[in-house]
Amino acid sequence: MTTPRKLFIKTYGCQMNVYDSERMAEALGASGYVGTDRAEDADMILLNTCHIREKAAEKVYSELGRLKPLKVARPDLKIGIAGCVAQAEGEEIMRRAPVVDLVVGPQTYHRLPAMEAKVRAGGRAVDTEFPAEDKFEHLPRGPRAKRGVTAFLTVQEGCDKFCAFCVVPYTRGAEVSRPAARLLSEARDLVARGVREITLLGQNVNGYHGEGPDGRSWTLARLVRELAGIDGLWRIRYTTSHPNDMSDDLIAAHGEVDVLMPYLHLPVQSGSDKILKAMNRKHSVAQYLALLDRLRTVRPDLALSGDFIVGFPGEEDADFEQTLSLVRAVGYHSAFSFKYSARPGTPAAERPVLPDTVLDARLQALQALITEQQRAAQQAMVGREVDVLFEKPGRMAGQMVGKSNYLHAVHATGADLTPGQLRRVRITASAPNSLAGIAV
Ligand code: 5AD
Ligand code: SF4
Repeated sequence: MTTPRKLFIKTYGCQMNVYDSERMAEALGASGYVGTDRAEDADMILLNTCHIREKAAEKVYSELGRLKPLKVARPDLKIGIAGCVAQAEGEEIMRRAPVVDLVVGPQTYHRLPAMEAKVRAGGRAVDTEFPAEDKFEHLPRGPRAKRGVTAFLTVQEGCDKFCAFCVVPYTRGAEVSRPAARLLSEARDLVARGVREITLLGQNVNGYHGEGPDGRSWTLARLVRELAGIDGLWRIRYTTSHPNDMSDDLIAAHGEVDVLMPYLHLPVQSGSDKILKAMNRKHSVAQYLALLDRLRTVRPDLALSGDFIVGFPGEEDADFEQTLSLVRAVGYHSAFSFKYSARPGTPAAERPVLPDTVLDARLQALQALITEQQRAAQQAMVGREVDVLFEKPGRMAGQMVGKSNYLHAVHATGADLTPGQLRRVRITASAPNSLAGIAV
């Protein structure tokens, strides 16, 4: 018997990259690789990179600097760059970093086994095409690993929205939705392997318009309703959404589909109409607020999360104040905020940037407000009972960790708790980033 080769993957960025890393591991599993948690043991190291914000490429080069001694010690070691930095800077990486053996973009990793064979034979390989074929249809399947309680499922990729700051339309390409029949069968397979909660992924997931088994175009709402019929699938989530694709049927689904969790990540980016326009978001603050009203009418306990960019070119103090007002008006359960970072090739990259001191101050002010809201939302859970899907044992004996419907991390104690259970938990305390409780 030959010993299997070992694969170490380091994943940066979004949940879609996490999903892609799993697929790449499966694809290389078919070539005889097994996963390892230790880069030192690996025969192949893949960095699955993110290009969304600053210093992405620099991070990759400094990581490569750290990996170089491993390669010097074991010239057999192969190093690959995958993901969005690979897509954006493939040839440049090959030129600048001789330690790199292969570069593969997010749309071509089904070709990894062939690329791997080529680099094993001593060559180098680059593939950053946007091929006509669907990678998911052509992915080799390695041994089917046992699954945890929760899983991601990519249903849509790419983006046609072209927000002025965003690199995704260039790194991930145009919007493509996967056929619904494939997704339903993958979801059934995940459930058969123990998954109880599926998060549907897409850069613009609520713009999903995949072909249905009936030959018609299905919306995300239609897909969600169909998935909800799978026995043993207890929870469905989806991320990330654009306000303009929040269709009537999807809003209705939030009131009608009980396995669709009451949590929605709906980025707005800014609370100023002037800045929204400059960002090419194509909606106003009032339209966003009206949308939230409709969602809260059908699902009053909906927990909202969002993304914000501070210091977009042209953002004045008054614009930023409007972002703070919007956050106060909405009351987010959690939110992510970022300093604007000019991305090469995007329209906003041509515009004058604000001083970094301004960005820092605004980020601090916004994050303080968001943290305050998040703490208050968590504190409001104390004394209430929530459903928790348990994922793994906690650090303390007898403790189990899981997520509430609203995506809080919950540490619970109680008799006979095991991963994969969905239990009522009475919340007894709120820590900065999690809740504690007792299973009832
Ligand atoms: N600068 C700062 N933040 C950005 N994001 C996307 N592009 C940029 C950029 N150029 C943020 C947005 C998006 C999240 C995933 O990352 O808020 O919703
Ligand atoms: Fe990074 Fe965005 Fe690409 Fe995800 S989609 S890997 S966050 S650049």
